[in-house]
Amino acid sequence: MVPEKRPRTGSDRSGPEHVAIIMDGNGRWAQKRGLPRLWGHKAGLEAVRRIVKIAPQYNIKYLTLYAFSTENWRRPRPEVEGLFALLQEYVNKETPELVRQGVKVRFLGERSDLSNSAVRVMSYCEEQTANCSGLYLNIALNYGGRQDIVQAVRKIASRVEAGELKAADIKAADIEAELFTHGLPDPDLLIRTSGEQRLSNFLLWQLAYTEIYVTPLLWPDFTEEDLQAALSAYRQRERRFGGIINKG
Ligand code: IPE
Ligand code: IPE
Ligand code: MG
Repeated sequence: MVPEKRPRTGSDRSGPEHVAIIMDGNGRWAQKRGLPRLWGHKAGLEAVRRIVKIAPQYNIKYLTLYAFSTENWRRPRPEVEGLFALLQEYVNKETPELVRQGVKVRFLGERSDLSNSAVRVMSYCEEQTANCSGLYLNIALNYGGRQDIVQAVRKIASRVEAGELKAADIKAADIEAELFTHGLPDPDLLIRTSGEQRLSNFLLWQLAYTEIYVTPLLWPDFTEEDLQAALSAYRQRERRFGGIINKG
């Protein structure tokens, strides 16, 4: 969304409402232990469970997790299949617990490339958690930032073709309304684990003014204390949104 973002002054350093995480380093976590990479993904899901559970205690309203990118199909087939099997099992088993915790789940990304069983589990989880509002958990699965923009542009172009909209009238809000993230505020804080300093095609549009926090920790090792560290780093940031802070 394009909310009216005003520079944030020192007295206004509240915590982030929307945290996005690039959960990276599962493979290295496993390799360091001489284990198959899939064990790292399994441990990564334990970290997801931990963070989802505690996020509301830190006034996080929206949590958006990067689980599988449009580029992750390039991995060896057994890893991709194993990862999807783990994700499906997690979503299926965890759904009643998510309902209990008041977590509303939404999947972001293109579903048409996914197996019927994966899509079924995703819809089941979204339907079961539809009335929850304690935490909005968005799971980016087969998600790519470029692909998100492409699919939004296609929808807008067909409205133009149909004569509903003039090209000259297209605004940022029209594009946002068609993105997978429609209706969500932009992330305030992006956390990336495993030390990599890149976006890897995550939420390219939505991260325009997001504060970025990179930690060398591997995702399965990420704990509540590490979340606290990220949140406290965020509170030290001065968000200017292109403006200047008027310190009076
Ligand atoms: C992140 O961990 C999870 C996914 C991309 C699915 P990786 O699997 O990328 O772990 P590394 O980066 O190889 O250590
Ligand atoms: C980003 O991690 C994708 C997810 C965490 C799902 P990658 O491990 O795929 O990113 P690169 O390849 O190192 O950029
Ligand atoms: Mg990685």
